[in-house]
Amino acid sequence: MASTPLSLTILTLTPFLFLFLHSNAQTAPAPAPSGPVNLTGILDKNGQFTTFIRLLTETQVASQIANQINSSTEGLTVFAPTDNAFRTLAAGALNGLSDQKKVQLILYHVLPKYYTLANFETVSNPVRTQAAGNDGPFGLNFTAQGNQVNVTSGVVETQINNALRQQFPLAVYQVEKVLLPEELFGTKSPTSAPAPEKTPAETPKNKDSKAAEPSPSDNNDSGPRKTSVGLGLVVGLGLVCMGALS
Ligand SMILES: *[C@@H]1O[C@H](CO)[C@@H](O)[C@H](O)[C@H]1NC(C)=O
Ligand SMILES: *[C@@H]1O[C@H](CO)[C@@H](O)[C@H](O)[C@H]1NC(C)=O
Ligand SMILES: *[C@@H]1O[C@H](CO)[C@@H](O)[C@H](O)[C@H]1NC(C)=O
Ligand SMILES: *[C@@H]1O[C@H](CO)[C@@H](O)[C@H](O)[C@H]1NC(C)=O
Ligand SMILES: *[C@@H]1O[C@H](CO)[C@@H](O)[C@H](O)[C@H]1NC(C)=O
Repeated sequence: MASTPLSLTILTLTPFLFLFLHSNAQTAPAPAPSGPVNLTGILDKNGQFTTFIRLLTETQVASQIANQINSSTEGLTVFAPTDNAFRTLAAGALNGLSDQKKVQLILYHVLPKYYTLANFETVSNPVRTQAAGNDGPFGLNFTAQGNQVNVTSGVVETQINNALRQQFPLAVYQVEKVLLPEELFGTKSPTSAPAPEKTPAETPKNKDSKAAEPSPSDNNDSGPRKTSVGLGLVVGLGLVCMGALS
């Protein structure tokens, strides 16, 4: 009967053992919230950004971003177009780009500052991106209505609705269109003459209101091309107005 105390001890200890193992099992797999912020990891988890991930890697923008997240005190914002967004691009739109322009296109989706969705409601346009050309940084414009935020490149406009990550230093937002910079995809001729110094009187008055608000028939979302003409007009008029004001 010497075994009784031992089995009793085991019996009384067993629940504690279970508790111990159980609590350990619960805390162990919790992902460490700190550690390096991994953009491709965030996108990879989602499964619908394979083209964007490929381009981020190919252009080495991914590693540039990784470095920047570490060194920047301002943080970063990334717009991630879905695979579907890339599929709806005109055939050859991507392949027709030189390596340098591909880098510009991808950098156009990166803002050198951390923005929450609420920030975009009050941001002053244009917001500079990481992409730049001879005439300086390429910009994006944001418009808000209530808490619905749209982003426009002058060529495409799309809503921002899904935040894949919104935590300093990195914000990642899903977009359903590839943001095509006007500088690469715009309608203005590459060898554009300096903007004519027009007086406001020369600007057709009725066009102002028309251009500012795309006609409903353009709202089809079917072709970026059609929209681009309308938006190009807006931008053109904007430039003319700016020229007149300066
Ligand atoms: C980031 O995540 C991707 C995919 O999950 C992985 O392949 C890569 O090694 C990670 N990079 C770093 C620096 O952790
Ligand atoms: C960024 O910092 C983290 C932690 O401080 C480090 O693990 C990581 O290797 C760094 N990444 C780069 C690209 O410097
Ligand atoms: C955002 O764009 C959609 C069309 O894509 C349009 O219906 C909506 O009015 C726009 N919202 C704002 C705030 O510009
Ligand atoms: C963005 O807004 C600024 C100022 O409102 C305007 O001058 C510029 O043309 C706009 N750019 C685009 C791409 O819409
Ligand atoms: C655009 O909208 C019109 C009418 O709303 C429709 O007849 C047409 O099929 C649409 N085009 C596409 C490409 O969806």
